[in-house]
Order: sequence, then structure tokens, then C-alpha cells
Amino acid sequence: MRVLVGYASGGGSTASIAEAVAAALHARGHEVVARTMDEVSDARSYDAYVLGSAVRDQAWLPLGRDFLAAQRKALCGKPVWLFSVGMPGALSGPWRRWASLAEADLLAGLLDHVAPIDHRLFTGVVSAERFGWFGALVFRAVGGRFGDFREWPAIEMWSSSIAEALSEIEAASR
Ligand SMILES: Cc1cc2nc3c(=O)[nH]c(=O)nc-3n(C[C@H](O)[C@H](O)[C@H](O)COP(=O)(O)O)c2cc1C
Repeated sequence: MRVLVGYASGGGSTASIAEAVAAALHARGHEVVARTMDEVSDARSYDAYVLGSAVRDQAWLPLGRDFLAAQRKALCGKPVWLFSVGMPGALSGPWRRWASLAEADLLAGLLDHVAPIDHRLFTGVVSAERFGWFGALVFRAVGGRFGDFREWPAIEMWSSSIAEALSEIEAASR
């Protein structure tokens, strides 16, 4: 089975998480290609997909949303996992709870195009420079913290569960 790990990243965190997922799948014997979504020439040529995007203003980046919409036929009937990279780990108290609720809305928007086996929301690198001075001011005022919140063990565990599922799908199709 050829697996596409496709991503839409603004500042690089989503790309790094996608590369880690791809490396974990490869280490477990799967044929995998990691590509930013705008470099995927023929999405139909893959048998399974792990697709992720950075979150901006509670939605996937346009590149990620456009890819899902354009490729919905290619994805239909094939195993798909989705991941989003946002900032819940950088928030605290009620804002963190808000981020969990926002995940449901985020996923609902994606389900218009695809029926994923699973969706995960990870936290990426949250940097003041990318927010701009006013955004950074507001973010700090609500108790947000800047930093690198990527949780590699959780990403590895999720990748491992995908690798297992892919092996089961492969075995069942033989
Ligand atoms: C302008 C801006 C808006 C953002 N909006 C959200 C949001 O609505 N929800 C969220 O969880 N994270 C939000 N984030 C945080 C980013 O998704 C997070 O920093 C992520 O790591 C970015 O991934 P990337 O490095 O691949 O672009 C926002 C970041 C910026 C700079």
C-alpha cells in the first residue's frame, strides 16, 4: 500500500509532525511519501492517506481545505487519517476548554469532504512573530504561552496506531 502523508503548514510545525508520522510509518515497513499538499500531483495513486494542516482562525489553512475538497473523490472509500496542528497546549484554564470544543467545529468542517478513521489535534510551535504585535498582546493577555509544544511521544503513538491499522487492512486485502 502506498501511503501519502500530505500537509499544509505555515510556520513549519505541521510539516515537522507530518515528517515524523511518515518516518514512523516507514520504520514499520510501509511505503510512504510525505509532501506538502501543493506538491501532490496525482492523489489517486495512493492507497491510504494521513492528511494534516495548521489551524488558523479555527479552520484548516486554505491549502488543506482546498486539497480535501478537490480530492474528495480520490479519498472516497480509502483509509484516511486527519490531523490538525493548533495551540491547545499553549492555552490554560477556560481557553484550553474552549480549544477542545473548537476541535469539534474544526472536524465538522472537514467531514463535509472526507470520512476519516481518526482525527487528532496536536499543538505545534506557537511563536509571537507569527501572531504580529497585536495578536501576541491579546494572546499573552488571555494567559497564552509561546513556545514549542510538539508532543513527540503522542505523535509517535498515534503514528504507531496508524501503522498497525494499515498492516491489518493490508492483511485483510490479501
Ligand atoms: C494568526 C494565527 C492564528 C491562529 N489561530 C489558531 C486557532 O484558531 N486555533 C488554534 O488551535 N491555533 C491557532 N493558531 C496556532 C497555530 O495553529 C500553531 O502555532 C501551529 O503550530 C502552526 O502550525 P505551522 O507551524 O505548521 O503553521 C494560530 C496561529 C496564528 C499565527
